[in-house]
Amino acid sequence: MSKLVRFGVSLDEDLLNQFDRLLRQKKYTNRSEAIRDLIREELVKKEWTENREVTGAITLVYDHHARELVTRVLDIQHDYHTCILSSQHIHLDHHNCFEIIVTRGKSKDIEALFQKLKAVKNVKHAGFMMATRGKHF
Ligand code: NI
Repeated sequence: MSKLVRFGVSLDEDLLNQFDRLLRQKKYTNRSEAIRDLIREELVKKEWTENREVTGAITLVYDHHARELVTRVLDIQHDYHTCILSSQHIHLDHHNCFEIIVTRGKSKDIEALFQKLKAVKNVKHAGFMMATRGKHF
């Protein structure tokens, strides 16, 4: 870890009050940690827009009785096998399945994988979480 640097920030009082209210809601105990998280979030977004090597998670909820859907979801995952580290399938109830797909690769490939899975007919919900490989911060 590099050395800690202090710096001053000037901003409008109303904006700061709103920020402090937000921090209390989010259970932050100080402004520094909240600002660090905001900066990290922006840096992760930047990695994704620059098509860098990233990690991410895709979640799907679907009814496994829709057989064509299951085949399609598997076909797509095999097309992108180089981007998939693991997948976990949870049987939520008699009908519904929940799948978590952990990915690593170029952000554009992972986004394409997500869009293809999301677009499969009868997928009830598709979620996406951008993460970082953590190399740069
Ligand atoms: Ni299932």
